[in-house]
Amino acid sequence: MSDFLENHGIIITGAASGIGRATALRCAEAGASLVLADRDIEGCNETSQLVQKLGGQAEPVEVDVANADSVQTLISHAVDTLGKIDGAFNNAGIEGQSTRRITDWDEDVFDLTMGINLKGVWLCMKYEVDQMLSQGGGGSIVNTASIAGLVGLKGGGGYTASKHGVVGLSKTAALEFSSKGVRVNTVCPGTIETPMIDRLLDDSGAESSFFVEKTPIGRLGKPQEIGDAVAWLLSDKASLVTGIALPVDGGWVA
Ligand SMILES: NC(=O)c1ccc[n+]([C@@H]2O[C@H](COP(=O)([O-])OP(=O)(O)OC[C@H]3O[C@@H](n4cnc5c(N)ncnc54)[C@H](O)[C@@H]3O)[C@@H](O)[C@H]2O)c1
Repeated sequence: MSDFLENHGIIITGAASGIGRATALRCAEAGASLVLADRDIEGCNETSQLVQKLGGQAEPVEVDVANADSVQTLISHAVDTLGKIDGAFNNAGIEGQSTRRITDWDEDVFDLTMGINLKGVWLCMKYEVDQMLSQGGGGSIVNTASIAGLVGLKGGGGYTASKHGVVGLSKTAALEFSSKGVRVNTVCPGTIETPMIDRLLDDSGAESSFFVEKTPIGRLGKPQEIGDAVAWLLSDKASLVTGIALPVDGGWVA
């Protein structure tokens, strides 16, 4: 077991499921202490138990990333638990109505998608960066966008708009805070085997081969493969890396 995240206190949102859970396990293996946040507290408890089985430390916290008070409570809870925040993976997200054309998206779902995927990332960064600067020791933030943050996707509608927003917001934060020691990067997953993709396949009636055909590497990604990239970006091994939007997508955007 490599310990490249030893003495790192890290917050992960969307930690109850999929990419967030796999990343929590990867960071725990690398020695991090974790605060695991999600609106699904039962799923968060399960992830915490899985981390503890690996011998890691994890505290589950309920949060709605689209709500400023809830995010502020998360950050102060994390500081109480971890002592400091060295890293954050702002990953919570929803797919909205990603099987519909933009003309068929409902206004309330569009607002909800932007509220969680884009405003939620902004709110988390707002309070995380403040905390990192007040500690004086820098930090690393990774936000989850998507290949839908780099290219248009038919059916993506509000989702694609929100993920392009995450890429732009993250680059701006990198410009503003890298000189103060806070690195900010975005990870852009391709099609990854998680409950989100299961829901999209169910809604559209498509087979997973639909996504595989668009992926040069010839298969869907595993959430652990995103976890590996994120753990690296969160660590000092990526000390010169800031302001990037990293596709981890089996070649999709190529
Ligand atoms: N699975 C993919 O193929 C894929 C591809 C590109 C990007 N992504 C992105 O990766 C991230 C994780 O997705 P996943 O595939 O693991 O999906 P998932 O549905 O398995 O997990 C998403 C998690 O976010 C949580 N969440 C949703 N709204 C929240 C809120 N308001 N506050 C707190 N938590 C909330 C959910 O409860 C869930 O645990 C998302 O941002 C998603 O857009 C996924």
